[in-house]
Amino acid sequence: MIVTTKKLFEAAYGKYAIGAYNINNLEQAMGLFRGNVESQAPFIIQISKGARSYTHKSMLEAIIRAADALFPEAVFAVHLDHGDEETCYDAINSGFYSSVMIDASHEDFETNVAITRRVVEAAHAKGVVVEAELGQLGGVEEHVAVDEAGAKLTDPDKAKEFVERTGCDSLAVAIGTSHGAYKFSGAQTLRLDVLAEIQKRLPGFPLVLHGASSIPQEEVERINAAGGNLKGAKGVDENLFKRAAELGVTKVNIDTDGRLVWVRVHREYLKEHPEVVDFRPIGKIFMAEYAKMIAHKNEKLGSAGRLPEIRKLLGLD
Ligand code: G3H
Ligand code: 13P
Ligand code: ZN
Repeated sequence: MIVTTKKLFEAAYGKYAIGAYNINNLEQAMGLFRGNVESQAPFIIQISKGARSYTHKSMLEAIIRAADALFPEAVFAVHLDHGDEETCYDAINSGFYSSVMIDASHEDFETNVAITRRVVEAAHAKGVVVEAELGQLGGVEEHVAVDEAGAKLTDPDKAKEFVERTGCDSLAVAIGTSHGAYKFSGAQTLRLDVLAEIQKRLPGFPLVLHGASSIPQEEVERINAAGGNLKGAKGVDENLFKRAAELGVTKVNIDTDGRLVWVRVHREYLKEHPEVVDFRPIGKIFMAEYAKMIAHKNEKLGSAGRLPEIRKLLGLD
């Protein structure tokens, strides 16, 4: 059942984080629902602008509604990932999305405040929850490239002012993560001290961690052994998620790890079966492997096993 992101955050705050997983197609949708139901976790489905235009936004909506009917036990929110203002309004007016992210983090502070405020007003009028971002992650986002050295961490004082002035419901913070498969050129440098300072100024307020894929080294090695070239790919230590949750992180965004599963399954299968022309056996392996990855992530996030209590809290059981 599609629920409001707000309730998921209220239930999780300080105890665990909800996995927010990007999907683009039906194989990902099936694996996602299976993995979350098997591990008994509430979750957030993220749809990026690129995902909306990969086939068509209506196609993804139909896939999600079909999966909802096939997995009646599932409890999840539908979220627009990295929206610009126009896409946010489209999502808000569609009636399908539980929440939207307005990402104006590349703008100066005052412009970010103004844009976010406009989106919050439109969203709240329709009961839609808003995530905003302050600070800049490293790595490559859809519309802006920021190198690791130039990444701007979130200023805790500014975070408090930003939340008060915009009325946003959750805040994506930059504490050293970045998008994609190459997060750290040297040692991992996640600034949990900065996160603690943000939580001190915004107690009880839901924080969001973008760029949280862990880029499992075993996955990278298997991809490279099957013809890939992902040298130096490195990610976030997933054992830090529970500490991050205690420090106010209620949503952890994971996309690239799922893409690695797809690449590994397809590279290995096609290498081992050079004669293959039927794509369905690979798709089946992918769905099973993706479900396994989701269940594993939920264990690390502490969201695994929380489905019965969430369903009770929402009055579903
Ligand atoms: O942060 C971005 C997400 O990984 C979505 O990626 O814009 O290529 O769909 P995408
Ligand atoms: P990763 O690239 O680390 O999976 O981050 C995904 C993300 O932040 C989506 O918004
Ligand atoms: Zn992101």
